[in-house]
Amino acid sequence: MFFLLFMCASTSSSFNKRSLSALSTPAAAMGDSTTLPTKSRRWSLEGMTALVTGGTRGIGHAVVEELAGFGASIHTCSRKEEELVDCLKKWQALGFRVTGTVCDLSVRDQREKLMAEAGSVFAGKLNILINNVGTNVRKPTNEYTSEEFSFIMGTNFESAFHMSQLAYPLLKASGLGNVVFISSVAGVVAINSGSIYAATKGAMNQITKNLACEWAKDNIRVNSVSPWYIKTSLVDNILANKEFLDNVVSRTPLERVGEPEEVSSLVAFLCLPAASYITGQIISVDGGMTVNGFYPK
Ligand SMILES: NC(=O)c1ccc[n+]([C@@H]2O[C@H](COP(=O)([O-])OP(=O)(O)OC[C@H]3O[C@@H](n4cnc5c(N)ncnc54)[C@H](OP(=O)(O)O)[C@@H]3O)[C@@H](O)[C@H]2O)c1
Repeated sequence: MFFLLFMCASTSSSFNKRSLSALSTPAAAMGDSTTLPTKSRRWSLEGMTALVTGGTRGIGHAVVEELAGFGASIHTCSRKEEELVDCLKKWQALGFRVTGTVCDLSVRDQREKLMAEAGSVFAGKLNILINNVGTNVRKPTNEYTSEEFSFIMGTNFESAFHMSQLAYPLLKASGLGNVVFISSVAGVVAINSGSIYAATKGAMNQITKNLACEWAKDNIRVNSVSPWYIKTSLVDNILANKEFLDNVVSRTPLERVGEPEEVSSLVAFLCLPAASYITGQIISVDGGMTVNGFYPK
C-alpha cells in the first residue's frame, strides 16, 4: 500500500474572457475557453487539485471526502501523524486521491512547508484552498490571557490569511481558483462562544469580500461558509451538556444541530464550475439560526 505523507512538524477585458474561462473546467480554461461546459462538467471537480487544512476530523474530513467524491485530488494536513495515516489508508481504499502533511498550522514556517509540499504534489497548480483549521478557548473577555489571544488569532485568522497568501501564485497558475474559508455564525451575530473566536471569524468574513474583489482578475473566487453547531470533536464536550444542547436546539428553527456533511456539501458546491458567478459571499449553514429574530415555540 502506498500513499504520500510529508512531515513538517518539528522533524519533520474583458467580461467575456474572464467569465468564459471561469465557467469552464481547468482543461477548457487553459485551452478552448469559448466552449461552454456540458452539464456534467459543470458538476464535476475531475482534474482539479485541492488543499484542505485539518482533514482528519469533523468538517475538514467531510470536505476531503466530498471534494474527492466529485473527482478532485486532495492534499490535507493535521498535527497527529497516526490519525492522518489512518485517514490516508481509508481514503486510498475508497479510491480517493489524497496525500497529507503532518504540521501545525499555527506555526508560520510549517505553513510554508505545507504549501511547498502541496505545490510539489500538484506541480505548482492549485484549484482549491479550504481554510478549515480552527480552534477555540471559551471564557469571558476580561479573563483571556495574551497567550490565549495569540493562540486563537494565530490558529484561526493569521493561519488562514497566510495560507491564502501562500496559495495565491498556485491558484493563479491553475487558471481557475477557489478559496473557501470555514468561518462561523459567531462571525455574523453575537453568540457566547468567546469574543476572540468571534473576532477571528468576523475577520475571515471581511477578507472574503476583499480577496474576492482583489483576485477576481485572476479567476479566483473567494467565499466563506459559516456554520452554527455541527457535531464534531471541537464541540463534543459542549453539546454533551443536555441543558446547553436544548438551548441550542430551541434557538434553531430546524430544531437540531448540523452534521459535517451538511457543511461539506455547500463547500463543494462553491468550488464547482456550476457556482462560477458566486464570489465574495458569506453563507450560513445554521438550520435558520441567524435569521431567527423572534419566533417563540
Ligand atoms: N463544529 C462546529 O460546531 C463549528 C461551528 C462553526 C465553525 N466551525 C469551524 O469549522 C472548522 C473545523 O472545525 P471542526 O469542528 O471540524 O473541528 P475539529 O473536529 O476539532 O477538527 C479540526 C481539524 O483540524 C486539525 N487541526 C486543528 N488545529 C490544527 C493545527 N494547528 N494545525 C494543523 N491541523 C490542525 C485537527 O487535527 P489535529 O488536532 O490532529 O491537528 C482536525 O483534523 C473550524 O474553523 C471551526 O471554527 C465549527
